Amino acid sequence: MLYDVVVVGSGISGLYAALYARRAGLSVALICKSNPLRSNSAVASGGINAVLKTTHRDSCREHIGDTMNGAGELARFSSVSAMVTGAEEIIRELQSMGVAFDCRNDGEIAQRPFGGTKSSRTCYIADKTGAAITQTLLVQCRKEGVKIFQNHVMLSIATFKEQLSGITILRRKDSQVIAFACKSLILAGGGYAGIYRGHSTNSQESSGDMLAIALRSKMRLVNMEFVQFHPTTLAGSGTLISEASRGEGAYIVDETGTRFTDELATRDKLARAIMRHQAEGHSVYLDFRHLGEELIEKKLPSARKHALNGAGVDILSELLPITPAAHYTMGGIWSRSDTSTDIPNLFVCGECAYSGVHGANRLGGNSLLEAAYFGRVAGIEASRAAKKSEFHPIDYALVDKEARYIEMILEGENRFNINTMRRNLGNNLYNNAGIYRTHDSLADALEYVHYLMTMSSGLCCINKERSDNVELLSIIEFRNSLTVAEAMLMCALAREESRGSHYREDFPHSDNKDYQANTIVKRLAGTFLRITFEGNLSSDWWHRIRRFFHAQ
Ligand code: FUM
Repeated sequence: MLYDVVVVGSGISGLYAALYARRAGLSVALICKSNPLRSNSAVASGGINAVLKTTHRDSCREHIGDTMNGAGELARFSSVSAMVTGAEEIIRELQSMGVAFDCRNDGEIAQRPFGGTKSSRTCYIADKTGAAITQTLLVQCRKEGVKIFQNHVMLSIATFKEQLSGITILRRKDSQVIAFACKSLILAGGGYAGIYRGHSTNSQESSGDMLAIALRSKMRLVNMEFVQFHPTTLAGSGTLISEASRGEGAYIVDETGTRFTDELATRDKLARAIMRHQAEGHSVYLDFRHLGEELIEKKLPSARKHALNGAGVDILSELLPITPAAHYTMGGIWSRSDTSTDIPNLFVCGECAYSGVHGANRLGGNSLLEAAYFGRVAGIEASRAAKKSEFHPIDYALVDKEARYIEMILEGENRFNINTMRRNLGNNLYNNAGIYRTHDSLADALEYVHYLMTMSSGLCCINKERSDNVELLSIIEFRNSLTVAEAMLMCALAREESRGSHYREDFPHSDNKDYQANTIVKRLAGTFLRITFEGNLSSDWWHRIRRFFHAQ
């Protein structure tokens, strides 16, 4: 297979990137490991942030300020500023492709408040925003000639004499390892919140594959310790109850019906407040009862459906039990603001990328914007690079090595239960590397991950079927999860302070002297990881700019 540009991942960033590479007149393959509609973009329901010309009492300056403040002094000002000022164009472009944003009575796009701001800035389609945008982009990609390969699992990046030459892939229909050659590659395959299995809003397939592959290819990962816990997920199932609920006025209450926190605080603060209240012996609920049936049916139909199907609760008249769960990861593959990376002609966007806009904590509604904005940048930059490049040969020793790896998993004798191991990893991470963490809890989690790494060599398929073998996929994903978990825990241990979503009970304050910097993790020879901190000049910039803003 030979394509000018290969894009891995079918969320909003991958679809946007593929579309723009195709519009540059290039052949484009979009690779996804299962159904293209099962990405985390489709789960993010509440909306997409943008300051529109019609937005009342808001400005790009405010949006930049909220994003920088929410990010705990770690965001890259130039990237935030570019994204925020490009937001209206993205919204109008999506509208022109057919995304039917909800509108006000005067016909202009309606906007709702989200956490971390005083403004109503979030554009939406009821509480199905991510799914609606994903579907539209998918149709558009198909229409414009992007070739979509479902059920293809990326295994590794292929290089020839240090030049990108393509990727290796497991084709699920027959478990064959094949290669795709390309001039430019865009990784857009999502984050790693799914490694908190059983305590995550992500789909079962979210396992940090892109980051594990990048680490194995000696690329840098940034800020892996920052994991966002969504405050309101259905207790016991991890199903997301969108922030749209709170944006539309739902309360967070305990069993006495008492509100105990600000429902529109940033997610890190809210998740901590809920956990603290739970630790004091309370149960926590979302209360929609005062909103009325008309508003709920119009603006929060998915919340009502999830509550009924997942908990047997009718939110019109009953309280909905909720708890925080891992939702989004701010850590990602290092990239410049044009999405380029350590490897020439390799670009990253969406949740797997460190784009510099979320720092230590992302604002709700900024992820869909980031995905669309940087997806477009990646598509443009990757096609520009591809036009200046040649194809390089694929090293077939790599394909052969991957094929032997797959054979070993398929043919070997299994000694352990993969499902139990994945669940145990999720439980351990949630308890030890969750919303509250300490040196000791993180060290325990790391020891457990090392133990699972040793055991994972004994994981093989019980079912030897070669067609669509879910066990095979699960084992590959689990090994990727362990690689990512190790990097995440080592970064969390290294950051001896609290900032954004990373709350260390043993270091409860931010330490700007030593830690106002990005954590960088890189794999050295063998499997050793090196953690360093890299100064964040852009934050100093932000301090100066903020003084300027305040002086006005
Ligand atoms: O709550 C939500 O609808 C999630 C949105 C987001 O992650 O941006």
